[in-house]
Amino acid sequence: MKEKILALLRGTDGYLSGQEICSVLGVSRTAVWKGVHALQDEGYEIEAVQNRGYRLVSAPDLLTEAELRSHLHTRWAGQSMEAYDHLSYSTSLRLRQLADEGAPHGAIVIADVQEGGRGRRGRSWMTPPPGAAIALSLLLRPDIPPAKASMMTLIAAMAVRDGVEAVTGIRPQIKWPNDLIVNGRKICGILTEMQMSLETESVQYLIVGIGVNVNYESFPEELAEKATSLKLETGSRVPRAPLVTESLAAFEDYYDIFISDQSLVRLKENYNSSLTGLGEEIRILAPEGTWTGISEGIDEDGGLCVRHEDGQIEVIRSGEVSVRGSHGYV
Ligand code: BTN
Repeated sequence: MKEKILALLRGTDGYLSGQEICSVLGVSRTAVWKGVHALQDEGYEIEAVQNRGYRLVSAPDLLTEAELRSHLHTRWAGQSMEAYDHLSYSTSLRLRQLADEGAPHGAIVIADVQEGGRGRRGRSWMTPPPGAAIALSLLLRPDIPPAKASMMTLIAAMAVRDGVEAVTGIRPQIKWPNDLIVNGRKICGILTEMQMSLETESVQYLIVGIGVNVNYESFPEELAEKATSLKLETGSRVPRAPLVTESLAAFEDYYDIFISDQSLVRLKENYNSSLTGLGEEIRILAPEGTWTGISEGIDEDGGLCVRHEDGQIEVIRSGEVSVRGSHGYV
C-alpha cells in the first residue's frame, strides 16, 4: 500500500485528493491514511490539506522497495526485487540463492548496508555506513556463450555511468574494463559472476554486482588515494534510488542491443567515448611483466586494443591483466 501511494504522489504535481487515491487503489480512506502515516514515519514529508489532499514535499534518501519502485520505469530490470536495510552477507550471494530458486531475469537484490561485500580478485568490498553507498546485484539469464559473459560488465559500467550523469550531471569515465572514475578516483566497482550449466556448458545465469560510492564523506587512509564518492566530488548528497533506477533503465537498453548483435559492435564507440587513457600511453600489468602501449579502445568483443611501438595491435582480455595510466592508477 505504502509503495502504491508513494508512486501516485510522486507522479502528481501538487495535491492528490484522498478520494482519488482511494478510487485508483480501490481501498478505504482509512487504508490511505494509514499508508500516508507509515510513509511519514519513514521520513517522507507529506503535506495533508483539507479539501485538496496530499502532497509529497520531500523524501528521505532510502533504498527501500517503496522508494525504488516509485522511481522505477523499466520493463524488466529490477521488477523483481529484494531490498535490505542491512544484509549480513553479499547481495550477490543472496541473489545467487534466489537465482537457484528460479528468480526471473532482471531480479535485483539491493542493500543499504552490506556486510561481507566481495570485490574483484578476492578482495573485500568496503561495508558502508547507512546512506553512503549502493550495493546492488542484478540477475541476468542471457542466451550467450560463456566467452561473452564478461561483456556484460562493460555494459553495466556504461549503464551506471549514465545513471550517475542523469542524477548528478557528472559523467564518469570508465577505466577498462569496468571501474567508474571521477577526477582520477574510483566511484564504482563491478563484479560479474557466472553460473554455468554443467550439462550444456552454457550460461545458466550471470550476477552483476555493482558497488557505488555515493555519499561517503571520507575514506580510510589505504583507499583515500584511489577512491572517491559522488558527494565528495559534487559537494552535496546524491539521492541513491533514482541513481539505481536510471542505471537499470540504461542497462536494459544497452543489454537489448548487445543481445541482438551478440557483440558490442554498436556500443563500443559509446564505451570508448568514456574510456580513460584513450589514445594515450597506458601500462599493462601482466603476469609476465609490465609493458606499455597506446590505448586504441575496445573492440566489439570488449577486449582492449593496445598498440605496440612497432604498430602491432595486441588485444587484452579482462581477467588476464590490470591496466594503469602511464603515471598512476588512471
Ligand atoms: C571491484 O572490486 O571493483 C568490484 C566490487 C563489486 C562490489 C559489489 S557491491 C554489490 C555486490 N555484492 C558484492 O558482494 N559485491 C558486489
